Amino acid sequence: MRLQLRDFVAMNSDSIWRDWHGTALVVGCGGIGQALLKELGEIAPGLLLVGASRQDWRLRQKKFKGDVEFLPLDLTDDSSLSGLAAILEKRPPLRLVINTAGLLHGPDLQPEKRLSQVNRQALERSFAVNAFAPLLLAKAIESLFSFAEPFHFASLSARVGSISDNKLGGWYAYRAAKAAQNQMLRTLALEWARKRPRGCVSLLHPGTTATALSAPFQAGVPSDRLFSPERAAKQLLDVLTVLEPQHTGQFWAWDGQQIAW
Ligand SMILES: NC(=O)c1ccc[n+]([C@@H]2O[C@H](COP(=O)([O-])OP(=O)(O)OC[C@H]3O[C@@H](n4cnc5c(N)ncnc54)[C@H](OP(=O)(O)O)[C@@H]3O)[C@@H](O)[C@H]2O)c1
Repeated sequence: MRLQLRDFVAMNSDSIWRDWHGTALVVGCGGIGQALLKELGEIAPGLLLVGASRQDWRLRQKKFKGDVEFLPLDLTDDSSLSGLAAILEKRPPLRLVINTAGLLHGPDLQPEKRLSQVNRQALERSFAVNAFAPLLLAKAIESLFSFAEPFHFASLSARVGSISDNKLGGWYAYRAAKAAQNQMLRTLALEWARKRPRGCVSLLHPGTTATALSAPFQAGVPSDRLFSPERAAKQLLDVLTVLEPQHTGQFWAWDGQQIAW
């Protein structure tokens, strides 16, 4: 399936977001997360914007030009998740949640090229952020969504998490953790379709985007396929604009193309 993005979005996108009220939570304030907050600040004046991030949140509060409240969050820590929920309880009901946190590499973590590079600690770290965190986030904030109004719970996945699309191999931990996230949020979507039928749960692939996460792997990417974070953010919000409860529990690319599991 491909969503009819272009015509619809050109006609409706701004007015749709302008009409949204409540709280918008962006989790993970890396390249795409920050760009989403900036874009939402421009197109959704009725939404109270909250960014939740592990590091530098006080600094971000000072530096960020837009009107955003930054809150501390470590997704791998249950007490941090419940602390975030306790603060959000005092804000208007959640209408839009986009989880942009993800982990591919770090000073002591590299995506595996071959089986001999796989190790238990890296698998656990990747699954903690890329797979368990989105579901535990949903659990922590479930009661904060409005029953009465439409809402989105979206989490960034990655095309490499598609099992049927895996033609290259490698990146065991990241691929498998994103695939596990997809399964968990698909399951969540089925539960919420019964309990919260006005909600739409989505897995989103942003396309290769020039951020810290992709920096070591951008060399072979054609320039027209390497998006700026700003462009990626706009495209992701365009996809969300056309998604409705009937679309819940699916995996979408930045261009509105549905991705096979
Ligand atoms: N960039 C791409 O080409 C690309 C392609 C496909 C999919 N994606 C996915 O898109 C999402 C956004 O990636 P990005 O490109 O914006 O990467 P990024 O700039 O590296 O941002 C990822 C953010 O995740 C946050 N994070 C990691 N562990 C966390 C934790 N335990 N608790 C809270 N936050 C945590 C980090 O926050 P701190 O600032 O607190 O460290 C970081 O800012 C990720 O899920 C990624 O897998 C990206």
